[in-house]
Amino acid sequence: MRIFLTGGMGFIGSHTAVVLLEAGHDVTLYDNLSNADADVVDRIEVITGKRPTFIEGDIRDGVLLEKALKESGAEVVIHFAGLKAVGESVEKPLEYYDNNIVGTVRLMQAMRNAGVSRLIFSSSSTVYGTPEKLPLTEDCPTGEATNPYGRTKLHIEQILADCAKADPSLSVVCLRYFNPIGAHPSGLIGEDPNGIPNNLLPYVARVANGRLPELAVFGSDYDTPDGTGVRDYIHVMDLAEGHAKAIPYAVAHTGWIAVNLGCGRGYSVLEVIRAFEKASGRRVPYRLAERRPGDIAANWCDPTLAKELFGWEAKYDIDAMCRDSWRFESMRAAQKQRAD
Ligand code: WQD
Repeated sequence: MRIFLTGGMGFIGSHTAVVLLEAGHDVTLYDNLSNADADVVDRIEVITGKRPTFIEGDIRDGVLLEKALKESGAEVVIHFAGLKAVGESVEKPLEYYDNNIVGTVRLMQAMRNAGVSRLIFSSSSTVYGTPEKLPLTEDCPTGEATNPYGRTKLHIEQILADCAKADPSLSVVCLRYFNPIGAHPSGLIGEDPNGIPNNLLPYVARVANGRLPELAVFGSDYDTPDGTGVRDYIHVMDLAEGHAKAIPYAVAHTGWIAVNLGCGRGYSVLEVIRAFEKASGRRVPYRLAERRPGDIAANWCDPTLAKELFGWEAKYDIDAMCRDSWRFESMRAAQKQRAD
């Protein structure tokens, strides 16, 4: 099928593009390169032997978006484009509401004008806010997101539900990611944020590689086994596979649905540090610091619905996630050093 990925040059988008190309789909990547390098498309071609179409554009440019959707002949849109750092969203709420929410409204308008009726949306576990119980199932309460980033994902899910109610031909699948980490086993693509990473794994990887001095562990007094934050980390290749397996469901059904994509178990920050040291053979110096505004203590999911609907379940464990993340960091840092 012809699949159109907004934000397709980013961390999750690029890995999903690899899985879709290898499954024989035709892939178009639409991205403004605000958090991705232009050479990602070359690296995807090296991995798969196929070159996706890349269109540089902003998700808020409705005219360009509609033109790109029509020219690509898109049959399904996977919507990755958006800002995604919890801490940053607390400091810059307007940028998050403009990019994530206005961008999604422009996309839905462009899809309607271009006659595209299937959308898979990159949602997030943050829509659950502070969990009342764990593991999280899709019917757990949402609506108490603890930061602007999480609120954008929640509002977008509600906007998409309204669109699906108004237009019965629409098919909307909201995939609620837990914490995507790791990299493609080739080491050619991975999580490579511009500037200082907000998320844990790229930061840990750069500390292990000596590119950053030490990790600040945000909070050591949470109600968790070792006091540090617990999250359900999922390998980005498992997440990419989850998108590929959601496509037949989106094609065969209309209406709105939300589905968790996670492993179904949590790891603390200190456990991740130990796993990364084991995978890399390097030390990860850290200091215990204050909690980060907007953070929750712990979350992990019950991934049963994804197995029932898509026949999908995560395959990789935390050691594989850290091993692949380390390989990417080592190769990327060496490449950047050669380029400097
Ligand atoms: C993980 C844990 C931090 C950095 C968000 C989004 C989620 C997804 C990933 C897009 C927490 C701790 C972190 C650091 C630390 N977004 N930490 N020191 O906030 O759980 O999830 O990003 O894919 O949808 O909600 O991810 O990696 O920022 O934090 O101690 O320098 O690591 O406190 O406990 P988060 P994260």
